[in-house]
Amino acid sequence: MRITGEIRVPGDKSISHRAFMLGALAHGTTLVRGALESLDVLSTIKALTAMGARIEKKGDEWHVTGGGLHEPESVIDAGNSGTTARLLSGICASIPGVTVMTGDSSLIKRPMARVIRPLTGMGASFLARQGRFLPMAVRGGGLHGISFSLEVASAQVKSALLLAGLKAEGTTTVTEPSLSRDHTERMLKHFGARVDRQGASVTIHGPQEISAREVSVPSDPSSAAFPAVLAAAVPGSKLLLKDVCLNPTRTGFIPVLERMGARIALQNIHDDSGEPVGDILVEGCGLRGTTIGGDEVPRLIDEIPILAVAACFAEGTTVISDASELRVKETDRIGALVKGFASLGAQVEERPDGLIIEGPLNPKAGSVQTFSDHRIAMSFFILSRIAGIEVNLDDTQCVDISFPGFFSLMEGCL
Ligand code: S3P
Repeated sequence: MRITGEIRVPGDKSISHRAFMLGALAHGTTLVRGALESLDVLSTIKALTAMGARIEKKGDEWHVTGGGLHEPESVIDAGNSGTTARLLSGICASIPGVTVMTGDSSLIKRPMARVIRPLTGMGASFLARQGRFLPMAVRGGGLHGISFSLEVASAQVKSALLLAGLKAEGTTTVTEPSLSRDHTERMLKHFGARVDRQGASVTIHGPQEISAREVSVPSDPSSAAFPAVLAAAVPGSKLLLKDVCLNPTRTGFIPVLERMGARIALQNIHDDSGEPVGDILVEGCGLRGTTIGGDEVPRLIDEIPILAVAACFAEGTTVISDASELRVKETDRIGALVKGFASLGAQVEERPDGLIIEGPLNPKAGSVQTFSDHRIAMSFFILSRIAGIEVNLDDTQCVDISFPGFFSLMEGCL
């Protein structure tokens, strides 16, 4: 088996959420092309509609008419989407009135104190289950700017504060220990806002009005990482991934795969709607182990499950560290990976902040529990295809959270 050809994975999830949110905050009608139409993004669209945005699909384009958001009539359900819950808290904090928000059985267990604390410092008030979980109620309006240093690099928290800061009186500055994805900063600028970066800090001066724009959403590098690993792990493969977002805060998996021995070329690089975009050509050779940690982790945090699969086929040791944030994603992804590998007869060492994988592992056919986590499901599907073994997944529907059409697109490459 060799993986060859050319594919385009669906639109970027992070950029799609932000395009709808900024479109809903902006005056006028924003046109969004190439948006990801996955369950997570639909949660954002439904929430913004309940808050007064008009969001309609016309042909291939979404039209978002915003500028007059208000408190919703009933409870907002963010579903499985941490990005919806956390970014929207920043928007709700700036709107006079009360918003009540909840989510599915995974989201209600994920930490919200990281947004509650700084948004409270800006003047919003929260009532949350145990003070830190959904469901929670936000009373918004009358915000003032603050300076806040994040303990953990998080684009969701940074973005919540920037979106609140857009409408707050005065200056809001967010400082991160290492740079997380910067789509919010880029898109705010694209919509005409003034945002300044100085080293690890980003500042927005409020209150500001933004106006409608056109946004083209590139393909999601986090989705492209699945076929990229499939091609990288199968010697003789040559796969072209078209129109992928090449924002350097997202492409940390590319140098990792190169260190592991894959040949990767970036082609046709250009700018679109404030984001670098291009094609990724992946050629598979034998893989070797590598070390993943430190500042590169925020640039590949969502790709660690599929990189762990690559490590399972690599010669030698792969050490993944500084990734304890994986424990509070859609599921505890470190635990889910260790259990998943073990169900296939492959032992890996679990660390509080990562994994040690002594490859190659030679996994055997078996059943894997996905914990209804889209990236765990897709990672073990790719593992099954590289190894040429049957892997039974307890939930395949969950891939619709970020990558509708995943199975048929991947089967088409085989
Ligand atoms: C996202 C930020 C990351 C990432 C998530 C999407 C975003 O989460 O894991 O899938 O769109 O801002 P954190 O901000 O919690 O690191």
